[in-house]
Amino acid sequence: MMSEHLKRQAAAMALATLKPGLRLGLGTGSTARHFVDLLGKQVADGFDCICVPTSEATAEQARSLNIPLSDLDTLDRLDVTIDGADEIDPQLNLIKGAGGALLREKIVAAASDVMIVIADSSKLVETLGRFPLPIEVNRFGLGATRHAIAAVMVRHGAESGLRLRETAPGLPYVTDGGHLIIDAFFGRISQPEALSRDLLDIAGVVQHGLFLKMCKMAYVATPDGVRTLA
Ligand code: 5RP
Repeated sequence: MMSEHLKRQAAAMALATLKPGLRLGLGTGSTARHFVDLLGKQVADGFDCICVPTSEATAEQARSLNIPLSDLDTLDRLDVTIDGADEIDPQLNLIKGAGGALLREKIVAAASDVMIVIADSSKLVETLGRFPLPIEVNRFGLGATRHAIAAVMVRHGAESGLRLRETAPGLPYVTDGGHLIIDAFFGRISQPEALSRDLLDIAGVVQHGLFLKMCKMAYVATPDGVRTLA
């Protein structure tokens, strides 16, 4: 499929820039999966690195490829994190979390000197918000947390509502951290910093998928080649 081909090109470009000996954060999702796959081949050829995965799924893939893994208890800083994104705006602010890994992704990106995003060009937007914003919430007090999130959405001019993410009707999606995810449909997020603060002020919100001023560089694959955004 074309978009899989583009995702792999972006992943290959990111990998080509990495020097041996780095401490790497490994993202989650289909684009990050291409990166981990390519990294596995490079590790098999003797490339030296130590990696911290952002999800159990990525950890499992990395282990299957004999990629050396560690964690943020052993390593308190990482050099680079390579991850995908659901939306990328012109300032390289992101929406992430469609794959349900936003909490670990944000912790790993925050512990990294550089966050690099890999994506195909369908992820580029002028303004964040067309893609539903994932909000990770504690199970306790879900009704009250939903109510508080809905009030924030109204204040921020959301076009439509929110939905508890489910794996099947009536079966909530549970994150690696044991939390739930509410997908919030904004349409357009005109004040991402203020929205971030307002969401984090809600006691039941664990984290949200707005990654603001965290991404330093993006490799975005188009049918005409990979663009570097910085
Ligand atoms: C997972 C994520 C992913 O990086 C994001 O959803 C992009 O995924 P994909 O590369 O499959 O489009 O944030 O939580």
